[in-house]
Amino acid sequence: MKKMICAATVVASAMAFHLPAQTSVTSEDWGKVSEGQAVKLFTLKDAELTVHITTFGARIASIEAPDKNGKRADVVLGYRDVQSYEADKSTYFGAIVGRYGNRIAKGTYSIDGQTFHAPLNNNGNMLHGGTVGFDHKVWTEKQIPGGVEMTLVSADGDMGFPGELTAHVRYSLKGSALQIEYSATTTKPTVVNLTNHSYFNLGGESHGTILDEVVMLPASRYTPIDAGLIPTGELATVQGTPFDFRKPTAIGERIDTPNEQLKLAGGYDHNFVLDSTSGMHLAAKVVDPSSGRTLTVTTTEPGVQFYSGNFLDGTATGASGVKYEKHFGFCLETQHFPDSPNEPKFPSTVLRPGQTLHSTTVFTFGVQK
Ligand code: BGC
Repeated sequence: MKKMICAATVVASAMAFHLPAQTSVTSEDWGKVSEGQAVKLFTLKDAELTVHITTFGARIASIEAPDKNGKRADVVLGYRDVQSYEADKSTYFGAIVGRYGNRIAKGTYSIDGQTFHAPLNNNGNMLHGGTVGFDHKVWTEKQIPGGVEMTLVSADGDMGFPGELTAHVRYSLKGSALQIEYSATTTKPTVVNLTNHSYFNLGGESHGTILDEVVMLPASRYTPIDAGLIPTGELATVQGTPFDFRKPTAIGERIDTPNEQLKLAGGYDHNFVLDSTSGMHLAAKVVDPSSGRTLTVTTTEPGVQFYSGNFLDGTATGASGVKYEKHFGFCLETQHFPDSPNEPKFPSTVLRPGQTLHSTTVFTFGVQK
């Protein structure tokens, strides 16, 4: 099977005739990063999906899902080996991004009157945790029922962030649903925003652009950005704009319309403010009319970054040898809003000692004939 290096060891495969088919979890060695740490690749498999997850950046490396004719394809962009993931400092394919996902203006923010600085790695701002974010760390792993738990201890002062942060990300597969549960604790007040940065292409990773895929986002407002892609602080209505995805609309339908916000980002790269925020709520639905594959995203988070792969430029050659060009994948990063540490009106991202951050997102795949 693609992206596999050596024979898999069955870690857990509990099957009992009176129970529905279970998820099998297997793991294998997946080489080493340049500093010598060993990396593992896990395979989560059930009747519906096969998911590969690596301890390098706690990344989703592939998700194989059937189309309307039962034909399987990998529906996320990614590479075959850990060296390619390590060499890529800009796409964040499949990674858990942190300690703070998305941007903090000038990398600077204050907590309780004390100012902190994170390294700047994106046009004078901090993106996805700084120069070495969680996406480039080797996480430790533990098998759990139907999946794997990844753990990372980020030291006090890592990328300038205060407090030792212990983060757990639990991936588990059940039927056609891949669940991601996040939790984190800290030893000092800090800011945290964890998300998964998978790029989906429901036509398959080598399919081409995602412009024909139809997206629905239950969001009446979004957070407009400035030239550095930092939110202006406004919660703007989507009504009458190309940002209104409340009715299912093809990604490409309005992406080239003369709109200042689309121009700034080269397409969609905006945080949508989800209308419903209580419990597990809907964040997005996507349908690919040609393959019939569908994706439903539910979350406990208040926002979702809808990014149409605007900065993909053919530099990355993916798992099946295709160069990933502009708009070859889209991300739906469930999250707290970008630059929240500098926007007191946005939901807070401050985590304090004694508190535990909990967040859950589920990606459910299906087919529509
Ligand atoms: C950001 C994009 C960025 C991409 C990383 C997204 O979450 O919003 O602006 O280019 O991640 O490649």
